[in-house]
Amino acid sequence: MRKQIAAANWKMNLTYQQAIALLQTIIAADITLKENHSVVFAVPFPYLEKAIGTVQHRKNFLISAQNCSDRKSGAFTGEVSTEMLKSIEVNFCLVGHSERREYFGENNLMLADKLNLCLVNGITPIFCCGEALGTREQNQQNSYVERQLRESLFHLTREEILKVVIAYEPIWAIGTGKTASTAQAQEMHAFIRSALKNQYDAAIADQISILYGGSVKAANAKEIFGSKDVDGGLVGGASLNATEFIEIIKALK
Ligand code: PGA
Repeated sequence: MRKQIAAANWKMNLTYQQAIALLQTIIAADITLKENHSVVFAVPFPYLEKAIGTVQHRKNFLISAQNCSDRKSGAFTGEVSTEMLKSIEVNFCLVGHSERREYFGENNLMLADKLNLCLVNGITPIFCCGEALGTREQNQQNSYVERQLRESLFHLTREEILKVVIAYEPIWAIGTGKTASTAQAQEMHAFIRSALKNQYDAAIADQISILYGGSVKAANAKEIFGSKDVDGGLVGGASLNATEFIEIIKALK
């Protein structure tokens, strides 16, 4: 059974006190999770260790970094390596979020290096992909996303690809209040799964969780997550509100 994941992406929001209080409120809600459900919080670097301690006693609650360096170690001031993340027992790391691509110049090849380093260090990468509005308007979204997968992911072995989570996040839906329609999300998720099948095989494609991201909120989560190939969501804005995010977790199928 594929893992169904509700992942919070806090981005550069919340003070330490606000962040830990939010985490504690969500934990205290004592949501019943199924065996194949995971709740992941992608928190700012300075909060990682405390966040890990806070969720430690809750099965299926896991902590993610929002980014990592594409270099192993050395003279790269301000960077955080996957080895460092591993040393404090971080479980997941977002790789290639569209904001990293857009504002920090991350490209597909650099992201392939980040993925490799995550996997070497036992960290599950949540690989983000998705097209901009112009690409969709020209109906080029499939080839665009296929190229992101090919250049960043498809060098991985069968064993390695099974350790990756994919998040499809159409850029035009991130933080805009516009969500892809359920049909648009399902269509792209099915396309990604077919690309995985072509590159690997059907059994592998069937096991990889593909999350949807882009203006997911309590009011639309159930419908979006209900689609056959959508295995949960990567949630920005709505994950900063405990009540909203609790409802989103409850919407996992
Ligand atoms: P959003 O962000 O839910 O605020 O649209 C999603 C994301 O960027 O991961």
